[in-house]
Amino acid sequence: MALIAPSILSADFARLADEAAAAARGGARLLHVDVMDGHYVPNLTIGPAVVRSLHAATPLLLDCHLMIENPDALISAFVEAGAGAISVHPEATRHLHRTVSLIKGLGVRAGAALNPATPVSLLDDILPDLDIVLVMSVNPGFGGQSFIPGALGKVRDLAACRRDRKLSFTIEVDGGIIAENAAEVASAGAGLLVAGSAVFGGGDPEGAVRRLAALAAPGAAAPTWVP
Ligand code: DX5
Ligand code: ZN
Repeated sequence: MALIAPSILSADFARLADEAAAAARGGARLLHVDVMDGHYVPNLTIGPAVVRSLHAATPLLLDCHLMIENPDALISAFVEAGAGAISVHPEATRHLHRTVSLIKGLGVRAGAALNPATPVSLLDDILPDLDIVLVMSVNPGFGGQSFIPGALGKVRDLAACRRDRKLSFTIEVDGGIIAENAAEVASAGAGLLVAGSAVFGGGDPEGAVRRLAALAAPGAAAPTWVP
């Protein structure tokens, strides 16, 4: 059964503890934390200090999505702050294998993201080392965008590759997930569905997580590393 990863990007940043608690009451077991640097993507969000406060305020695993250039320089700070998983963008690091090794060496789960124009084949050689492949179904930078349907084919290709190569990475889909597409994305093979505006944009995060989770039930198995 796929899990919903509510993205705090669409939450009220002045009430993060309350928003996290509401998501947890709805059944969320992790939170997706979008870190943007104003360079790799045209938006600026949060850093390790906010992750540290959030970690103290919620027991949920913090799934940190780094949309930043040179992520190696900040990975240890995010791990010390309480990140439970860290995903990076291959285009933002010179040596993806080194970055993934750095993340895993610090004892947290490692992911690589695929932008809408980035082919699955870019990750062929590193798939065995990854805990997460983060399929972007919008261009990174903002919440509330529309799902790009081409992402579904990537999810299916990754699921087939995972089966054929006997790998165990989790497919996480990020961007434009709403009630109307959650079941299809989950059925394609996703084990984690990120949802920002669909969870926090409507005034009832608890109910929204519960409804999306029910729709995502036919998805791939939830990752074993999410408590
Ligand atoms: C976009 C972020 C997403 C975003 C998703 O760059 O990576 O995680 O918060 O928001 P929605 O669900 O509103 O598309
Ligand atoms: Zn994200």
